[in-house]
Amino acid sequence: MLEAPPIERVQSFVASNIVAGNPQFVAEENGRIVGWCDVTPGSAAVGMAHVGRLGMGVLTGYRGRKVGRRLINATVEKARMLGLEKIELGVFSSNEPAIALYRSLGFQEEGRKKRGRFVDGIYDDVILMALELKRPNPIPDPTPGSGPPPPRREAGYP
Ligand SMILES: CC(C)(COP(=O)(O)OP(=O)(O)OC[C@H]1O[C@@H](n2cnc3c(N)ncnc32)[C@H](O)[C@@H]1OP(=O)(O)O)[C@@H](O)C(=O)NCCC(=O)NCCS
Repeated sequence: MLEAPPIERVQSFVASNIVAGNPQFVAEENGRIVGWCDVTPGSAAVGMAHVGRLGMGVLTGYRGRKVGRRLINATVEKARMLGLEKIELGVFSSNEPAIALYRSLGFQEEGRKKRGRFVDGIYDDVILMALELKRPNPIPDPTPGSGPPPPRREAGYP
């Protein structure tokens, strides 16, 4: 982000995560929040409640001290406990620390929005990454004639 979101929007986001019981952890020092990580599940109305979107950040002076790793470990673990099947995120291709952290946890690149951001004359790709928490069935290959028909799925399965 180039500027902080309005405090009211942050308060409302944090409160809604608490009410919903979403995975959300903060790092605190002397009453000051110095890092955060949250996973917001998608909407059941569009069949995306099995996937959560991750956001995180650590204040500049606190980076490189394993705060981010502890935050994301706790948040991913809670997402797993709650039954989320997948965690997604978008990260700028120039953000090497974040990409290294996500890769070390098993996040894989699923796509890339080329030149998705333009700031101060510099383009950045947006890398779409995801961590599979649960892979109950192999995803069938949609290519015609590419093997046996996919196994029957139970009613209601996404
Ligand atoms: C990405 C971020 C959350 C990492 O938090 P952090 O507390 O600094 O990270 P940690 O100290 O826990 O390090 C965890 C891993 O991140 C990677 N990492 C951290 N700093 C790094 C750096 N300067 N260069 C390369 N990799 C780095 C390493 O893989 C590290 O693993 P290690 O245990 O082998 O050292 C933090 O840099 C940050 O807030 N960045 C700005 C906001 C942001 O990018 N948020 C994510 C948006 S998608």
